Amino acid sequence: MFSESMSVRENVSKQETLIGRRVYLRPFERDDLPYIQKWSNDAELRRLIGEVAPMSRAETEKWYKAMLADRDRMWFVIVLKRGDRVIGEAGFLRMFRPWRNTDMTIIIGEKDAWGKGYGTETGHLLLDHAFRRLGFHKISVGAVGFNKRALKFWESLGFKKEGVERDEYYYDNEYSDGVMMSILEDEYRELYKAH
Ligand SMILES: CC(C)(COP(=O)(O)OP(=O)(O)OC[C@H]1O[C@@H](n2cnc3c(N)ncnc32)[C@H](O)[C@@H]1OP(=O)(O)O)[C@@H](O)C(=O)NCCC(=O)NCCS
Repeated sequence: MFSESMSVRENVSKQETLIGRRVYLRPFERDDLPYIQKWSNDAELRRLIGEVAPMSRAETEKWYKAMLADRDRMWFVIVLKRGDRVIGEAGFLRMFRPWRNTDMTIIIGEKDAWGKGYGTETGHLLLDHAFRRLGFHKISVGAVGFNKRALKFWESLGFKKEGVERDEYYYDNEYSDGVMMSILEDEYRELYKAH
C-alpha cells in the first residue's frame, strides 16, 4: 500500500531487513567493514562509482561512525540467501524528509555476482521500501557517464535521465560527466503495479 499521508515516516526502524527471493538486505554492521575496505581497494570499482581513494581499516571505522551519526542515511549490505554471502552494499543517502526525496545507490562489490539479476532484485527491494513503506516521493541516483552498465541498469528499473553534470568526475587524468536520474512515486506505481 502506498503512503497515505504526505510525510515521510520517521518511525520505521533502521534495523529492518528487506527480504527478496535470492537476496536480502540487512542493516550494515561494524563487522562488515572489511568488505568496504576490500571494495574501496579495487581500482576498477572506484572508477565506476567515482570514488577517489582506497580506505584503510582506520578510515573505514571513521566512515562507519559518521554513517551511524547520519540520520539521513540508511545503509544495508546485500547478502545472497544461498550461503549468506555478502556481495555488496546499498541504501539511501541524503534523505530529505521535508521534500520526501532521497538519493539511493547500489554497489555490488563482488564482481562474479554482476549480471545475475541481484542488482535488479536489490533495486526492487529498495524502491518498494522507499515508496511503499517510508513514503518517499522521489528517488535520485547519480552515475559516472561512462558507466554504461549502471546507466542501463537504472533505466531498466524505471529511472529517467534528469540531467548531465558536465566534467563532474576526474579520474586518471580524464574528466567525465555525471548523469543524474530519478524516479517518481507515480511512475513507480505505474511500472510496478503488478508487484
Ligand atoms: C550496476 C549494478 C548495480 C547492476 O547490478 P547487476 O546485478 O550486475 O545487474 P542485473 O543482472 O540485475 O542486470 C540488470 C540490467 O542492468 C543492465 N546490465 C547489467 N549488466 C550489464 C552489462 N554488462 N552491460 C550493459 N548493461 C548491463 C541491463 O539492462 C540488465 O538488464 P537485462 O539483464 O534485462 O539486460 C552492478 O553491476 C554493480 O554494482 N556494478 C558496480 C558498481 C556500480 O556501477 N554501481 C552503480 C553505481 S551508480
